[in-house]
Amino acid sequence: MTTRKMPVWSPAELHRHLDASSRFTILDVRNRDEFDAWKIEGKEPIQTLNIPYFDLLDLADENEEIAAAVARAVPDRLKDSLPRSGQILAVCAKGDTSIHVAEGLRRLGYQAVNLEGGMAAWGDHYEVRAIEETPRLTLLQISRPARGCLSYLLASGNEAMVVDAARHTGTYTRIASERGWRITTVFDTHLQADHLSGGVALARELGVDYWLHPYDSIHPDDLLPATFSFRYLEDGASFALGEVTVRAHHLPGHTLGMVNLLVDDRYLLSGDTLFIESIGRPDLGGRAKTWTPLLYRSLQRLLALPDRTIVLPAHFSHMHEADAQGCYRATLGALRSHNQGLRMFGRGQAAFSAYILGSLPEHPKAYDDIRRVNTGLIEVDEAKASELELGRNQCALSHSERGRRLAA
Ligand SMILES: [Fe+2]
Repeated sequence: MTTRKMPVWSPAELHRHLDASSRFTILDVRNRDEFDAWKIEGKEPIQTLNIPYFDLLDLADENEEIAAAVARAVPDRLKDSLPRSGQILAVCAKGDTSIHVAEGLRRLGYQAVNLEGGMAAWGDHYEVRAIEETPRLTLLQISRPARGCLSYLLASGNEAMVVDAARHTGTYTRIASERGWRITTVFDTHLQADHLSGGVALARELGVDYWLHPYDSIHPDDLLPATFSFRYLEDGASFALGEVTVRAHHLPGHTLGMVNLLVDDRYLLSGDTLFIESIGRPDLGGRAKTWTPLLYRSLQRLLALPDRTIVLPAHFSHMHEADAQGCYRATLGALRSHNQGLRMFGRGQAAFSAYILGSLPEHPKAYDDIRRVNTGLIEVDEAKASELELGRNQCALSHSERGRRLAA
């Protein structure tokens, strides 16, 4: 084995490089369809080559060392496309093929490193940022950078709440136990379509209540009810967390049961209603024409909140949406002028509806099954869970050319 000393980047190191906009090149050796479906993206465009592994090398015979075959093939197949200076990150699905590619490149004098665990590990990597840490309230934003998902842990005293938990529930229980918190309440702002929720599993594991709006306990296509028990997260419901109050606002549009949580009258956990650059798409239930007016009315209600309200969404589309501290947040006042969906809202309902209905991205096929899992109608193993969650979320309205033209 020649790969023992292979330098690697962990997913956390990769995130640090992306966050710092470091210059490096990615050589992704997955198949083209896998690459097209999902790739590593940073704040700035990254020079990325996709050369499927089997296109890259021909083994001279079955006993030939893979790294040697790579070293033999690269000068011919990649010619001058790989930079001689700067780091090259070799990437594959799980990190066990790309390690040989990185080794072959190093033998040719390239500064190659392997992405440890590949795209699977990158997809399951989490980052934690503090939005507020005071004796009154700790509010943590937990991001899953590869998928653009954001969840929240909020605590006061030793009590904590979790909002929009991802399926790796240990992320939340570990933070809570490190900080001496007891998680007492678990919320989902809505029935998630783009990723598997960890909400029900987390609440069960901890023996606490799971809260969801009743409309979102019904699968929008199958019209079958959720198979788990839950508490009704209704408009106006209010929850005490130490000295802090959390209030539910029912804001249908992205889903019928979409709820935003107003924390301490200062932070709006806006779910998939309002993002930093965009707004939640109203078509995932298959009734865009009916749900668009609901979204319009919900935004009307949301915009009645003060400008100083800090919006904390459940997704981002691009890393460049983060602020200097790496947090995905903005005041409602800033979003009124910078957010494309809110700008269109300002032009009145007819223009808003035309913009929405003209900007709808494709409906990802996996979303129907993800909602079946999230309502407990089907169960999946780890391999299927990863397959369903493949790629970046598509809960936001696309910034399509047509959408841009309509917004111009
Ligand atoms: Fe969503």
